[in-house]
Amino acid sequence: MAFDQSPQGPDIVVSGLDKVFGHGEAAVHAITNANLSLERGEFLSLLGPSGCGKTTLLRIIAGLEAPSAGNVQIRDRQVWTAGRRSGEATRPISMMFQEARLFPWYTVAENVALPLRIAGVGRTERMARARRICDTVGLGAFVDHRPGQLSGGMRQRASLARALVTEPQVLLLDEPFGALDAMTRDTLNLELMEVCARARVTTILVTHSITEAAFLSDRVVVLAPRPARIVETIEMPFPRPRDLDLQRTSGFQNMVGRLRKVLTEGAA
Ligand SMILES: Nc1ncnc2c1ncn2[C@@H]1O[C@H](COP(=O)(O)OP(=O)(O)OP(=O)(O)O)[C@@H](O)[C@H]1O
Ligand SMILES: [Mg+2]
Repeated sequence: MAFDQSPQGPDIVVSGLDKVFGHGEAAVHAITNANLSLERGEFLSLLGPSGCGKTTLLRIIAGLEAPSAGNVQIRDRQVWTAGRRSGEATRPISMMFQEARLFPWYTVAENVALPLRIAGVGRTERMARARRICDTVGLGAFVDHRPGQLSGGMRQRASLARALVTEPQVLLLDEPFGALDAMTRDTLNLELMEVCARARVTTILVTHSITEAAFLSDRVVVLAPRPARIVETIEMPFPRPRDLDLQRTSGFQNMVGRLRKVLTEGAA
């Protein structure tokens, strides 16, 4: 019998995070005193108005951007301490960006396999894994296409497949489904929920969709306009597994209404 040997405690801890871009008169205060704590396997969404600092927060958690102050810890590794880099996260993190960012000269499968190539996985294995994950996100028939031959929504799916191909323990998603039609979005949300639950992936999702946040998350964090400040964190008490019927229940509709109210009041 296999035991999970990993230490107990939260998976991601963000504390006292502050971010100011630039100096003096031109300074933009993007984040002020952000505090977050996620348990392993937890799904958390960030909901907030455009320009409030959500992408910046994800980039800092991913280690791509330095905070002006504060700490980020992923499992047992401190990524930022008092605004300074103190290490790399040891657990695999994947970030999916707001734009698909695919290499136009590679096929879809080659793009998706890229993180595995960087990790030194051999061609046969990485292409097999890339094709499998492309199937999961509904791109099975397009693996040999180039990004230029895909629609915007298909490019986003390729980008999601690339984020999932390494089987990450921590997933940071920046408005992954913004460009998709409602039906494809529902399908991909269900897939994402399945993948995250099966592998107990700790996930932070940035979205503008209140319904999507309520449907996917264990907790939703509502942010105020710039500088990003947490207005309220709300538990989504719906049992799992969840299916689309949940969205028609009065409990769900009430929650969506409550989130909308907090979001509008936070923006006021
Ligand atoms: N590299 C940078 N240099 C200067 N200012 C920046 C930089 N990156 C972001 N900002 C500013 O920080 C603020 C927050 O930007 P961010 O991209 O995090 O917002 P967001 O919440 O992701 O918005 P959206 O919902 O539109 O994607 C904005 O005012 C933006 O102009
Ligand atoms: Mg953004």
